[in-house]
Amino acid sequence: MTLKKNILALRQKKAIVEKGGGDKAIQKQVAMGKMTARERILALLDVNSFYEYDLFVEHEETNFGMESKVLAGDGVITGTGTISGAPICIYAQDFTVMGGSLGLKHARKITKIMDHAMKMKVPCIGINDSGGARIQEGIGALAGYGEIFYRNTMASGVIPQISVILGPCAGGAVYSPALTDFVFVVENISKMFITGPNVIESVLGEKISQEDLGGARVHAEITGNAHFFALSEKECLNQIKELISLIPHSNQVKAVKIKPQKPTFKKNIEKIIPSDPKQPYDVRDVIFALADESKFLEVHELWAPNIVIGFGRMNGETVGFVANQPMYLAGVLDCDASDKAARFIRFCDAFNVPIITLEDMPGYLPGVDQEHAGVIRHGAKMLYAYSEATVPKITVILRKAYGGGYIAMNSRHLGADFMFAWPGAEIAVMGPEAAANIIFRKEIMEAEDEDAMRQQKVKEYIEKFANPYVAAAKGYIDAVIEPLETRELLLHALAVSKNKDDYTPPKKHGIPPF
Ligand code: HXC
Repeated sequence: MTLKKNILALRQKKAIVEKGGGDKAIQKQVAMGKMTARERILALLDVNSFYEYDLFVEHEETNFGMESKVLAGDGVITGTGTISGAPICIYAQDFTVMGGSLGLKHARKITKIMDHAMKMKVPCIGINDSGGARIQEGIGALAGYGEIFYRNTMASGVIPQISVILGPCAGGAVYSPALTDFVFVVENISKMFITGPNVIESVLGEKISQEDLGGARVHAEITGNAHFFALSEKECLNQIKELISLIPHSNQVKAVKIKPQKPTFKKNIEKIIPSDPKQPYDVRDVIFALADESKFLEVHELWAPNIVIGFGRMNGETVGFVANQPMYLAGVLDCDASDKAARFIRFCDAFNVPIITLEDMPGYLPGVDQEHAGVIRHGAKMLYAYSEATVPKITVILRKAYGGGYIAMNSRHLGADFMFAWPGAEIAVMGPEAAANIIFRKEIMEAEDEDAMRQQKVKEYIEKFANPYVAAAKGYIDAVIEPLETRELLLHALAVSKNKDDYTPPKKHGIPPF
């Protein structure tokens, strides 16, 4: 055969495999409102940047009629490409090929591209759309999942791992996304559960739809398994591109620096916090007033909204923001907020992203529900994450910093490098009303006018403790600053911290309160 003929034969072979499960299966996929695996990859990556590997891998199963089945690419597409010029490794399960089910060879294609990502130190993106373990392969499929989970764990903290759920992700399959750093879901398309509705009905006698059991909103709002929620696949792919542009691509490099830009947010930073300390406001306005171009990519936007986390840039460089959100539950820390923030802090620390903490909260949420849900264990994760983090850590106390929350929100005592407070900050063991009611209980009860006495004692407490100056006098706050000075001071603190080199005692690893 001439070279020309060989090339033609190759093209024909490729064209057949690239058709995936065939026209009928593709039509079904499209009818479900889904893109095909190949379309997803091409839409996510830079034009003409995708190179596919292992296209001709075939399964070796011979049971249950599998010997006669030819599965294009064994149901998964793997390869490398770029997103805005940044190299990445990617795999996408092809639901048109036997429901994207995972057999051993399918899994080995995935583990091979994961190993590649680890060696090349580039992000690994997995697009999940699969009926789970290929039932015909039995143990081979289970082995495959185990090998993926092992690599997810080894890669954790080395390269960013991104999971995109664009179809079913059922059974043990959900644990690979759960081990990765960011999970993306799309309304009406993503479904994640350990046991499906049919199993639940047969075991528990309860009827529930796939959507209500493990749809996109369930994971974005209730479980917190999903970090990003989108209304369409296109929006989801754009979110991934934005995230990739902001985060470092391994633990050995910095995020790409872009041209520094001033914030564009129009609201005066001095006008964001209401004069009445009981009035809520949106802490994201403070972030918009501080970040370059007022751009902020919020992570876990719909889950535990009493704390806000996400990425922005300062002087063109990526930072992580952690901020209490007074708009929800007054910005208290509870089990979910603690989990949410702690994990984000650990991501930032693992990938050398400085953390800016904006504090305004009345402490940990009291109540039987929280106590029994384990607020002690969950809350401790925040303390652990901040204490352990060695990246530059800067805190600005905007208003309230009460009790355990004061300590937890990256206080000086947990190793903050810079502690700033706005002049209206209240740093105390608890809110002035609660404090006065406890320590002046007798005086209040014995007074002729209880209310007047209470108000007087609250005022005394506020004057004594509910301000930043007691903490500043002890050196726990480095500077009491005007809101308008905040951005400049943060830029300065970040510049000063550029070569920060912190000490942690040698150990195999710590034992955080998981
Ligand atoms: C083999 C599978 C499959 C699987 C789907 N298919 N899932 N084949 N193993 N796990 C095949 C179907 O037989 C069908 O083949 C094709 O894929 C498309 O599936 P449909 O059922 O027609 O699609 P749809 O109606 O959209 O339903 C999707 C689904 C359903 C909800 C995902 O297929 C389903 O319930 N599948 C089984 C899910 C499951 O129980 N998986 C095992 C989980 S246990 P044809 O030839 O008809 O087109 C597990 C353990 C892992 O994953 C543990 C790791 C630790």
